[in-house]
Amino acid sequence: MQLITVKDQFEGGKKAFEILNEEMQANRVNVLGLATGSTPITFYEEIVKSDLDFSEVTSVNLDEYIGLAKSDDQSYDYFMHEHLFNVKPFKENFLPDGLATDVEAECQRYDEVLKAHPVDIQILGIGENAHIGFNEPGSSFEAGTQKVALTESTIEANSRNFEKIEDVPTHAISMGIKSIMAAKKIILLAYGEKKAEAIKNTIEGPITEDVPSSVLQRHQDVIIIADEAATSLL
Ligand code: GLP
Repeated sequence: MQLITVKDQFEGGKKAFEILNEEMQANRVNVLGLATGSTPITFYEEIVKSDLDFSEVTSVNLDEYIGLAKSDDQSYDYFMHEHLFNVKPFKENFLPDGLATDVEAECQRYDEVLKAHPVDIQILGIGENAHIGFNEPGSSFEAGTQKVALTESTIEANSRNFEKIEDVPTHAISMGIKSIMAAKKIILLAYGEKKAEAIKNTIEGPITEDVPSSVLQRHQDVIIIADEAATSLL
């Protein structure tokens, strides 16, 4: 694991963009794995400001809330369009369908999508409890795309984006840890004191399903870009 410490999320966004840019220039990015949450926003801003062309790049997103339509402004589909896709057209954009009536079939469909589009670079944020995607503590390292129940702490953390906590969906469809680990290169972004414990456990802790991100220690090409607050416990 390589750790790059930055001053703040703006420098972090620039650093992540530099890495992406280098990989794009070398023609190494056919499929880009994307994440939602507040963390990757500065990275997306850098992409939007750039003249990088994504018309030959396919994107696959990590996860989607169950029960939200694409048009719902809290859905991850909506988020991705707002922050990136509306400005930077890709060849294709894939996200799980939060309104699928057969969730099991939707998970299988998404696994097929991932099989057909192996990820070159996967962008990750991290939950305060070290979840990646929506793979909460206890998730199997062997899982593919799956329906997950969000923990109370995740519902509470994510409620800041909703009018009231009751509006936060209780379930999501998430790429599994096995699929995340299949990416050739992983860039994990983390900012702020609230992520400090998760970052310490990711880098220094034992590899355990209780700390989903600790599995990244087993990956051969992971770059963690984190600010001083998020690295304060190292
Ligand atoms: C959600 C997403 C994760 C994200 C996490 C952290 O739970 N499913 O992919 O990493 O939130 O969000 P934030 O970046 O807003 O702290």
